[in-house]
Amino acid sequence: MLDYVRNIPTKLYFGKNQISHLNGSLEQFGKNVLLTYGGGSIKRIGLYDKIMSILHEGGFNVIELSGIEPNPKVESVEEGVKLCKENNIDVILAVGGGSTIDCSKAIAVGAFYDGDMWEMIVNQKGLAKKALPLVTILTLSATGSEYDGGGVISNLKTNEKIGRSFTYPSVSICDPTYTFSVNAYHTAAGSIDIMSHIFEEYFSRTTDCDLSDGICETILSSVIKNCPIAIKDPTNYSARANLMTNSSIACSGIPSYGMEYSGWPCHAMEHQLSAYYDITHGVGLAILTPKWMRYILKKDVSVASRIAKFARNVFSLDDEDEVSLANKGIDELEKFIKSIGIPTTLKEVGINEDKFFIMAKNASKGGRMLNSYVPLDVDDIVNIFKDCL
Ligand code: NZQ
Ligand code: ZN
Repeated sequence: MLDYVRNIPTKLYFGKNQISHLNGSLEQFGKNVLLTYGGGSIKRIGLYDKIMSILHEGGFNVIELSGIEPNPKVESVEEGVKLCKENNIDVILAVGGGSTIDCSKAIAVGAFYDGDMWEMIVNQKGLAKKALPLVTILTLSATGSEYDGGGVISNLKTNEKIGRSFTYPSVSICDPTYTFSVNAYHTAAGSIDIMSHIFEEYFSRTTDCDLSDGICETILSSVIKNCPIAIKDPTNYSARANLMTNSSIACSGIPSYGMEYSGWPCHAMEHQLSAYYDITHGVGLAILTPKWMRYILKKDVSVASRIAKFARNVFSLDDEDEVSLANKGIDELEKFIKSIGIPTTLKEVGINEDKFFIMAKNASKGGRMLNSYVPLDVDDIVNIFKDCL
């Protein structure tokens, strides 16, 4: 087990009606609020009206930034920063999924930066030195952005999607009932994202962290159990609540206490797919993950025991031969992904070979994939993309 330091400064209110803490959560920072949200789901579920009535009753001055898109774009960050500066904003209230929260994190930092936003993100200029306080209300279980400091911003002009450490939310309100309206597609994609955050930590060269391994395996089992329930019965509170808790913990760093960093290879590859084709993050991961597992197993058989452990402890499979058990585990994962109805090939999401090389080159920028769990060079990544066709 390696040494570790972790400090999660976010206060998390979990459960029904936790929105009762909204007023107090904002008030400590001031009265001028930038309310950020996406394409309108919060209006359709009545959450917008509820929030507005709390804000008006509390005497807050509210400025709105709406229309934050999935895979949030740098233009929304620029717009939000302008609004913060013009309106002397004290606190940002982000209501939505990972895209709205990520964008709001970048705005929170950008509000104290005077230069170009994309330069700030690319060159990490001024990042994390100072940020506006951020309060979030989560409406989709997936990224864990409600309980981590990261954010991922896209620039469609340059085909770049860049993840950075921006700032942690001060408070996150996580009420599973707000996710009752999430459709089957985004429930499934979000669930795969949660699972992927675990895979990216679990598939590490450190193999003696009992607590981390147990948390990882429990989260995987819980998602596999609850995602199909939530798809079939969208208002099943227990299923939605388990997915939401899993979302917050999976990307918080808690499941990798003491573990060597894996390089997050599937995320590095997926961010290229969404940078070039603007696809749903969890869908890209669903396509890549089993193929990546199969590829690394062939390239470096020493990973068989770890994949076999996953097969044994998550899917209750067994086999005397570890490679064969590992393959059975990957088969089972593929079956699960198919069963929740999301695409499993690049063709299905309209991606062909055209950009494989440039995406592979970008994914391995700075040699980071050469330091991943099983080192991957540009040719390896192209091969994995090909396996996904
Ligand atoms: O825009 P609206 O109208 O709100 O609709 C959204 C959007 O279309 C909809 N939705 C959200 N809550 C809903 C709802 N629909 C009905 N009812 C509700 N309660 O769902 C769609 C997807 O939303 P989005 O926020 O894009 O999804 P997600 O939470 O998966 O976020 C994806 C983004 O987060 C990044 C991804 O790369 C991607 O850009 N990630 C952020 C991470 C982080 N901060 O730590 C880590 C992740 O690995 C990931 O990279
Ligand atoms: Zn992710």
